[in-house]
Amino acid sequence: MSSKEKLIIFDTTLRDGEQSPGASMTQEEKLRIAKALERLRVDVIEAGFAVSSPGDFASVKAIADTIKDSTVCSLSRAVIGDIDRAAEALKNANSARIHTFIATSPIHMKHKLRMQPDQVVENAVKAIKHARNLVEDVEFSCEDAGRSELDFLCRIIEAAISAGARTINIPDTVGYAMPQQYGETIRLLRERIPNADKAIFSVHCHNDLGLAVANSLAAVVNGARQVECTINGLGERAGNASLEEIVMAVRTRADFFNVETRIYTPEIVPASRLVSSITGFPVQPNKAIVGANAFAHESGIHQDGVLKHRETYEIMRAEDVGWNTNRMVLGKLSGRSAFRSRLDELGIGIESEQELNEAFSRFKELADKKHEIFDEDLHALVSDTKKSASSDRYALVSLSVGSQTGEIPVARIVLSVDGEERSAESQGAGPVDATFRAIERIAESGASLALFSVNAITSGTDSQGEVTVRLEKAGRVVNGQGSDIDIVAASAKAYLDALNHLASNVVREHPQSTGV
Ligand code: KIV
Ligand code: ZN
Repeated sequence: MSSKEKLIIFDTTLRDGEQSPGASMTQEEKLRIAKALERLRVDVIEAGFAVSSPGDFASVKAIADTIKDSTVCSLSRAVIGDIDRAAEALKNANSARIHTFIATSPIHMKHKLRMQPDQVVENAVKAIKHARNLVEDVEFSCEDAGRSELDFLCRIIEAAISAGARTINIPDTVGYAMPQQYGETIRLLRERIPNADKAIFSVHCHNDLGLAVANSLAAVVNGARQVECTINGLGERAGNASLEEIVMAVRTRADFFNVETRIYTPEIVPASRLVSSITGFPVQPNKAIVGANAFAHESGIHQDGVLKHRETYEIMRAEDVGWNTNRMVLGKLSGRSAFRSRLDELGIGIESEQELNEAFSRFKELADKKHEIFDEDLHALVSDTKKSASSDRYALVSLSVGSQTGEIPVARIVLSVDGEERSAESQGAGPVDATFRAIERIAESGASLALFSVNAITSGTDSQGEVTVRLEKAGRVVNGQGSDIDIVAASAKAYLDALNHLASNVVREHPQSTGV
């Protein structure tokens, strides 16, 4: 048996990650990610902020109803109504946690909450007691702890533990902390608070200064035993601490850390790919662990060293984090049952026979054009099938684009708009520009294009292109994704997906609003 202490991995991709502009996900997408997190063996999945909207409630509930091996958690402000809603969404969970929070820094208490410190303590205690009447496992966070006064933190945390909180989270909400100082804060809190040994100390660091992982690890050295993190470091503004970096740092430097996680690391890269493809946030090539270059050696000297003895320049093995493993290949001859069973293994929910038929016929079409179909292709294909089956406002009917060296490209597009076919034609600087202009001739959205990115889903020139389009209109930011072997068609699908998100006016409450 290992002598190491357990480090709890709390994933908040579905909650804080979703707070990234444009990263909102559908219930089906969240469920797919939750299943990937379960395969990864994360201890706690923060599934959302149940009170935020009926859609968020339904997603938290669907995840709580489905996930068996990880604790499922819902965020709630220190407000009774939020807590009741969280408990209701979690009622079928195998293991449920309510995570309640209130801001504790002078600036937040004064300007956001407009509460006196005494009132903040009182609200926190009331919320925790209420939550403890509904579930056993309650976590309490001191929002903006990174800028809170130590004495006040000691006071509120002692009261929170007495009220029944089992996990105390110390968020660096605005990414302000420095590793040494933050580690010291964790140490002092654990030393000074008389009942500190009755709770697990947790950290939740934002990456505004690029220090989220360093701060989290400094806290672990000083006794934190839960880290809140996200796949690919997704999250508000510059994001959260990245799960893959935390897990691999602890594992690779087992000589340094006295803790271990239960994460099944070969699922890291597939989870990273899935989150990137669903949210439309591409992973930068030089991103640690999951970036395309993370294990690529360019300089001749490095290559020579790695070929002679891999540990000369490699501290981790690519296959340990899931590069080139875990890929079941399907092809032209694969039948319906092989297709269905791989979808099941990947946690891709197919809702009806009709949806399965539609996805399978798309799979056959793709397999005619592309030799090998990888898991990433299946995720993209099913996302596309689900989008075209939904009652979205815009759908692509057909696209033809003419482009020739020396000629101005022209796109002709036919769309279905609220079920009615409309067509348009436009020239453009390139085929994609012509296509977007043709779409806009019909949609007249008035949105501006904030991001356009194309990635190859797998390797090879027959790879599907995965396109992300980000549109902005009146302060709203939405992402759209599309995939196709033809990248102009993928671009058109992505643009229409973004327009569909703009058209669906989902109103949801941000968790860090006051709630009072
Ligand atoms: O960053 C933060 O403080 C949060 C809390 C709600 C935990 O996300
Ligand atoms: Zn956060």
